[in-house]
Amino acid sequence: MTQAKTSQLRRREMLQILLVVVIMLLLIKVEGKPFPAPNFQNCFSSEGCCPPAVTTGNPTSFKFPTELPMRTRPAAHLLDDAYIAKYQKAYELMRALPDSDGRSHVNQAYVHCGYCDNQFYFPGSKYPLEIHNNWLFLPWHRLFLYFHERILAKLIGDDTFALPFWNWDGLPEGMVMPNVYAEKSLNNKTNSSLYDPDRNKCAERPRVVDFSNPSLVTCSNATDEFQHWENTHVIYTQLVTAAVTPSLFIGQPYRYGDYGGVGGGTLESKPHGAVHIWVNVEDMLLFKNSATDPIFFAHHANVDRLWTIWKRDLEGGIRADLTDPDWLNTQFTFYDEDGNLVSVSVAQALHPDLLR
Ligand code: C2O
Repeated sequence: MTQAKTSQLRRREMLQILLVVVIMLLLIKVEGKPFPAPNFQNCFSSEGCCPPAVTTGNPTSFKFPTELPMRTRPAAHLLDDAYIAKYQKAYELMRALPDSDGRSHVNQAYVHCGYCDNQFYFPGSKYPLEIHNNWLFLPWHRLFLYFHERILAKLIGDDTFALPFWNWDGLPEGMVMPNVYAEKSLNNKTNSSLYDPDRNKCAERPRVVDFSNPSLVTCSNATDEFQHWENTHVIYTQLVTAAVTPSLFIGQPYRYGDYGGVGGGTLESKPHGAVHIWVNVEDMLLFKNSATDPIFFAHHANVDRLWTIWKRDLEGGIRADLTDPDWLNTQFTFYDEDGNLVSVSVAQALHPDLLR
């Protein structure tokens, strides 16, 4: 064989090897990976809000209890006195739990803080976990609410207890701050556990929530009628016209190893984000504090309800949950109602027994 022929063959071999390497790299990039359940011991927080790692080793994998009654979430503006009394009691008990208990209200807020201000690290991954502004937003908050609700129910010894939802998408009476959060003195309690002194002046009753330009400083001077109309328009856009595919509504892919927080679904920015800004000066406004205000959970119960409405009730047959295995198999860690750490997957958030 001539020397020219040998080097031609070698070049061809090299090219083939290069091609295989490029294809392998592309496959690795496309395949991605789901996030494993974070270990709370790998939390590093510059804000000092890591939840306590009450157990060492991996959390145990969560199974839905089958013996619980089906629960129904009531609208927050329609609660009766008996419900309010239980609801207040549940938060009093939750606040009284010691700092070593992951179920305490402070630690529940730390769970939210840990998951959203870049605090959970994984060995071998450069970027910490972020559950906002990507496809993890809806399932993570649904599961957080599930466990929070079960903890409250356990504290008052009532398995039928369900969190209320703040019905800001519907009738005008839902578009103001529900009275149950607005009154410091409520239902024979002078210091209601559902009240937060840090609320925005512009959110005082009977002001109508503003989904478009929420402000802490200059309260809107739009008429109530105009504000209702405008809010309804925002809801229609975010839930219907702008949310025609699963990824537009649920959010963009986010896999193990990715930098997070770069593509939220329609509902996440408005009205979800706008309502946070509108409610509080410090608490609901900041990721790290927002779950310290009980209204956070009612706000998210409505976001969660709208997820179901989007999927179940809207016409067109194209609204469905995502089927990507990296979404379905991503796992989170939470405290269950006994204060034990459990791991739970996005697929479990889609389980019909979730409110059972
Ligand atoms: Cu984790 Cu309404 O935010």
